[in-house]
Amino acid sequence: MVEIWFVSLLLLQPMKKISPNLKKIIRILSDGEHHSGSDLGTSTKITRSAIWKFMKVLDSYGVEVESSKSKGYRLPSPIILLDSAAIKKNISSETLKEQLKIEVFATVDSTNQYLKTLKAETKKNFQVCLAEYQTAGRGRFGRKWYSPFGSNIYFSLSWTVSKDVSELNGFSLVVGLAVVKALEACGVPNTLKLKWPNDVQYQQKKLAGILLEINAEANGASQVIIGIGLNVNMADSAEIDQPWVSVRSITKQLSDRNVIIAKLIEQLMQNIRLYETLGLKHFLPEWQVYDALYGKEIQLEQHKQIIKGTMQGIDERGHLLLQDEVGQMNSYSSGDVSIKK
Ligand code: BTN
Repeated sequence: MVEIWFVSLLLLQPMKKISPNLKKIIRILSDGEHHSGSDLGTSTKITRSAIWKFMKVLDSYGVEVESSKSKGYRLPSPIILLDSAAIKKNISSETLKEQLKIEVFATVDSTNQYLKTLKAETKKNFQVCLAEYQTAGRGRFGRKWYSPFGSNIYFSLSWTVSKDVSELNGFSLVVGLAVVKALEACGVPNTLKLKWPNDVQYQQKKLAGILLEINAEANGASQVIIGIGLNVNMADSAEIDQPWVSVRSITKQLSDRNVIIAKLIEQLMQNIRLYETLGLKHFLPEWQVYDALYGKEIQLEQHKQIIKGTMQGIDERGHLLLQDEVGQMNSYSSGDVSIKK
């Protein structure tokens, strides 16, 4: 009864930093070997019953922990935890490190939502929120973003810019390019593609998705929340209803998410600076290189309406160009695109 209460109390909290004891336990178990409850207790200086409760917490996060009476506990898939110090260590620019605030949670409803609700006075201009697990991760068009504990990247960056929402044309495409460049810099093969506006794909399967949320602020400024979900070490999932891929399945090895996040931050900040000064125009040639749909027969779902045509790239605002069957070219600013079967 007491244990159920303890676990429920942990889960009821909408967001929670990872406890030092849970970190210690995960680090020990991440060697993939068995560890008995009493060995874990000795190494962490916590009681066996507290160890048992932490195993329940991991179980409630969906982490597979093997447990055997004779051998103890084992994590079949090792976890390298998110760590803001390790992320900063992998960022080379000191100025960039000073500008950034990075918060890491064990669990949060949605990293985008967390940044959205932060009070202006407590927020830095470039603030990052990361979580090991999202209880209500969200995707585009109100879809759910599956967010298992410790295996992928759930990343949000809040950026306050003195531009009106209407002046942020095509910014989401620029974010997609940053994700692709960061992954390439981490050794992912340079055959990644972007499905308009910003799905990152590998062999037509989804590797990363981007959710931009923009709030108009006082005096014409905007708060842009850049939410990125990137499949890193996920091995399987029955919960995703579209073809997907992870960095692990492409490179055939586990990756340290902290290294990828550092590259992602560097690349995002570089693209933000270039976008602020040069606009989307600067990125158009690069976007064409990664365009997954150019020349393809596609369909666009917009407000429950299906529009069909041949994809002809994007215009200078980042809108999708579609040529219909009589040769007429039309542009679209939003919608859900798929290749015609
Ligand atoms: C998509 O539908 O393709 C966009 C998915 C975006 C998911 C990320 S995970 C981090 C951030 N927090 C959220 O709740 N969503 C975004």
